[in-house]
Amino acid sequence: MVRYVKADVRYLPKIEALENACFTVDAFSRRRLRNLVVSQHAIVLLAMDGDDVIGCTIGLTRKRVGYRESGVVGQNEKFKTHDSGLTTRDSIVGRLYSICVREDYRCRNIATELLSWLEDIFSTRGVERITLEVREHNMPARRFYEKHGFSEKDIITNYYRDGVNAVKMEKCLKHSIEETILTGS
Ligand SMILES: CC(C)(COP(=O)(O)OP(=O)(O)OC[C@H]1O[C@@H](n2cnc3c(N)ncnc32)[C@H](O)[C@@H]1OP(=O)(O)O)[C@@H](O)C(=O)NCCC(=O)NCCS
Repeated sequence: MVRYVKADVRYLPKIEALENACFTVDAFSRRRLRNLVVSQHAIVLLAMDGDDVIGCTIGLTRKRVGYRESGVVGQNEKFKTHDSGLTTRDSIVGRLYSICVREDYRCRNIATELLSWLEDIFSTRGVERITLEVREHNMPARRFYEKHGFSEKDIITNYYRDGVNAVKMEKCLKHSIEETILTGS
């Protein structure tokens, strides 16, 4: 049976092996993975079957200062108005940095479970919007993200080390929460 756990440094060799099996270019090094696993700004979640790591997702959070025209301030939102007439509002953005499932376990909802857990953790940390980049030709991943409410925002040319373009995708979490409250679902 597949179980889901938060990563710690014990799992690093197995996460690295999974990364190398799933990504032919741009797989994370052991060092990079270690930094992510111990970082307060990263969330590393694993799917395990017995002792095998068969899925992994990595999310990052960062603070962002946003600008808006004044006069559209929501009831519970904390804005500061500046001389320019613009207002700033700090928000926390979540980045879906990586998600992968071992090939022989795909299409069994494992990535769906990992993403759903990551979104819950993002929500508890105050994340309102999730962003990600995906290789232009990675149709399984693009379909997966679309199915889970991400929409395509931009194409970033020459984004990856091998010159491939990225599709930038986004999902608004705050909106989903408001919808849940409104519809009671
Ligand atoms: C993308 C990935 C993580 C999906 O993992 P998964 O556990 O198979 O996904 P789930 O079973 O939870 O979700 C299945 C959904 O994903 C999409 N999907 C998955 N594989 C697909 C494929 N080969 N073709 C089209 N859509 C696909 C579909 O929307 C599918 O839903 P459906 O069955 O209703 O059509 C997995 O294919 C993977 O590890 N790919 C290699 C690593 C990678 O490219 N990661 C993304 C980097 S940005």
